[in-house]
Amino acid sequence: MNILVCGGAGYIGSHVVRQLQKKGYEVLVLDNLINGHLSAVDGVPFVKADITDKQALQEVFSRNSIDAVMHFAAFSIVGESMSKPGLYYRNNVLGTLNLLEAMRENKVSKLIFSSTAAVYGEPEEIPICEEHRTKPTNPYGATKLAVEEMLNWFNHAYGLNYVSLRYFNAAGADESGDIGEDHNPETHLIPLVLKTALGVLPEIKIFGTDYPTPDGTCLRDYIHVNDLADAHIMGLQSLSGGGQSTIFNLGNGNGFSVKEIIETARKVTGKPIQAVETDRRTGDPAVLVASSEKIKQELGWQPRYGDIEQIISSAWRWHQRNFN
Ligand code: UFG
Repeated sequence: MNILVCGGAGYIGSHVVRQLQKKGYEVLVLDNLINGHLSAVDGVPFVKADITDKQALQEVFSRNSIDAVMHFAAFSIVGESMSKPGLYYRNNVLGTLNLLEAMRENKVSKLIFSSTAAVYGEPEEIPICEEHRTKPTNPYGATKLAVEEMLNWFNHAYGLNYVSLRYFNAAGADESGDIGEDHNPETHLIPLVLKTALGVLPEIKIFGTDYPTPDGTCLRDYIHVNDLADAHIMGLQSLSGGGQSTIFNLGNGNGFSVKEIIETARKVTGKPIQAVETDRRTGDPAVLVASSEKIKQELGWQPRYGDIEQIISSAWRWHQRNFN
């Protein structure tokens, strides 16, 4: 099977590409390299193109025999989406519309979509299940929800089959240590904590210590990037076997506080890791924890990395090797 992976040179995309290749799939990566890294897909067939470029997409489909698409090509920084909503709607919504139309025109009917817990907004219930109401509190989450709605209508009208995966906090790195998380700018907790351990940053700021949680800092559900990768492949296998279009949450089902993450990173790295308590970051819900029962029951997915120490250790291995 030939899989087009849009955004395949990014953090999550590149891990999925690895897993696809290990399972014997043929992969073609499409990436505009704004956030992706060519080195993350070394040796993989690659097209530099932007999903907002309809013609480029059309060429990719007409020149290659594509059986299914996995779509990671999105902007994903919540804060940036608040100040530049147009950028997010153009890339994440318009770009995806272009992709869906190119798929339809070329009779490609299977899509695995990278969605997010940000579609839920401030949770009303923990753990969050897929039926929880969706009310994003930022344009990033709103664009992902808009795409999910588009997928539903394309499914009704044209028979596009999709699996949308709502990730909670993606973390960790491949065991090989040669691909990992490298955003610019980096805003995520675990890589920032590890950069502090390496001495690249002087300290980690703890955003808010007055949340209604046991230690006052936010709780998040961290899920290993290769567990996400497994779920993408299972979603594809399900669609290939005639499974229905659907949406799944992906998390470990456990919440870890910001302080617990820093403490675990101290243990894993053996470094003191200076932390300073500061004000809350706007828009952060106190607790985000997933119920992933649906994907466990329907696809038999199970996280291989249930332990937060294991997740941080895998990220640490990569950070040490990729100091610069
Ligand atoms: N945090 C700090 N200091 C930092 C960075 C983060 O205290 O320097 C805190 C945040 O306030 C938050 C927690 O660490 O409480 C996790 O923050 P991240 O930025 O790592 O992740 P988020 O939970 O904000 O966001 C992630 C994804 C988003 C997605 C969201 C949905 O990055 O794309 O989960 O749950 F929308």
